[in-house]
Amino acid sequence: MKNYYFKLEAALSPELLTLLRNIGKTAMKRGESAYLIGGAVRDILLKRGNLDLDLSVEGKAISLARQIASENDFSLKTHPHFGTAKLQSKNFSLDLVTARSETYERPGALPKVQTGNIYDDLARRDFTINAMAIHLSPDSFGELLDPHNGQHDLAKKLIRILHRKSFKDDPTRILRAIRYEQRLDFHLESETEELLQHNLEGLSTVTAERLWHELELILNEEKPEKAIIRADNLGVLHMLYPSLSGDDWLAKRFVKARRSNADSLALPAIYLSIIAYRFKPEEIEKFVARFKMAGWAARIVRNTARLKKDLAYLETAGLRPSQIYHRLKHHLPEAVKGVAIASDSSAAKERLQFYLHDLVYIKCELDGDSLLDMGIPQGEKMGHILKALKDARLDLKITNLEEEKNLVYKLM
Ligand code: CTP
Repeated sequence: MKNYYFKLEAALSPELLTLLRNIGKTAMKRGESAYLIGGAVRDILLKRGNLDLDLSVEGKAISLARQIASENDFSLKTHPHFGTAKLQSKNFSLDLVTARSETYERPGALPKVQTGNIYDDLARRDFTINAMAIHLSPDSFGELLDPHNGQHDLAKKLIRILHRKSFKDDPTRILRAIRYEQRLDFHLESETEELLQHNLEGLSTVTAERLWHELELILNEEKPEKAIIRADNLGVLHMLYPSLSGDDWLAKRFVKARRSNADSLALPAIYLSIIAYRFKPEEIEKFVARFKMAGWAARIVRNTARLKKDLAYLETAGLRPSQIYHRLKHHLPEAVKGVAIASDSSAAKERLQFYLHDLVYIKCELDGDSLLDMGIPQGEKMGHILKALKDARLDLKITNLEEEKNLVYKLM
């Protein structure tokens, strides 16, 4: 059996490597075996970084995790119903699951789970490249278990399901296959592609929440447009929601979003806003409901639609900066960014950019407390003066503290 100790050593920090050794040793003392599995093994073999490690335990995963957490001062979350535990420190997160086999009673439903060994656990997985394990027991630390020839498919750059019923059992694998294919620049193996297309109908048996989860994972990819375009070409998008499309228009704007936005955490929301921009107003609520979208996503989609209605106003000639500011200040910044990128109106775009890059940073030096010190009581009058100060600053009628004070005296 091949030993991949050197690959583990190259991929993981010394701290993490020591921890995996400890887990292997502790498991052995308990008469159990622990394995690194899934995406982490794939990424180690591909030399890609991955700090979300999954472990499978032939034994009691929660109890093992509890022992490791108490010996190392890690935070621990358990889900007794699923037999899973999460260990976390500031540098990594480790999910432990009791090795299991799964059977699907109904397509699209969650599987029935039974305790099993590591080979059962690998056989329940989605693709060959995700169905490998690395032994953590001291006597075989680093040995690779690859019963489904995942290494071969990694070398050939292929996404291959483990058996012909895979997509039927779990149609979310359709979206996962596309996501991995596009992320890794792989190809769907030909039979896998054929079965994927054959099972598209199965997507209608999956709950809205599970579909949304998969779409959110796509939006969190480095280049989500690749998976969206591929999903469109395979007929997947049409099955999910007929007016969703992945094309050149979208790709160009997603690229722009990445170029213009330094904060990568905001990107999924900006991408979603760009997607929502193309929907007609009457489709917005249907789109949100179709995927029972999480709160943040529903807010972005709705906000994008509201902002689109403001575009005509933003094209008005001679708008003062303060007018632009007040029209946009209640909108979500990610929606403003998304619409600024998606819109074809150069006048509106210019003003959205002006708001994002300049107006939001304009602040007054005087605040409510300073006005109190100047003898202005809290209340309507103070609110009026604060707004007048802000507007004067935005419109560059005043530019420093002295001028702010003069304006206050004038208004008093
Ligand atoms: N898995 C599966 N079928 C699913 C979901 C997950 O078989 N529908 C298995 C795969 O073996 C996968 C592992 O569970 O590798 C962990 O799931 P997840 O964290 O979603 O996958 P990663 O490969 O770690 O994903 P990523 O690289 O996107 O984090």
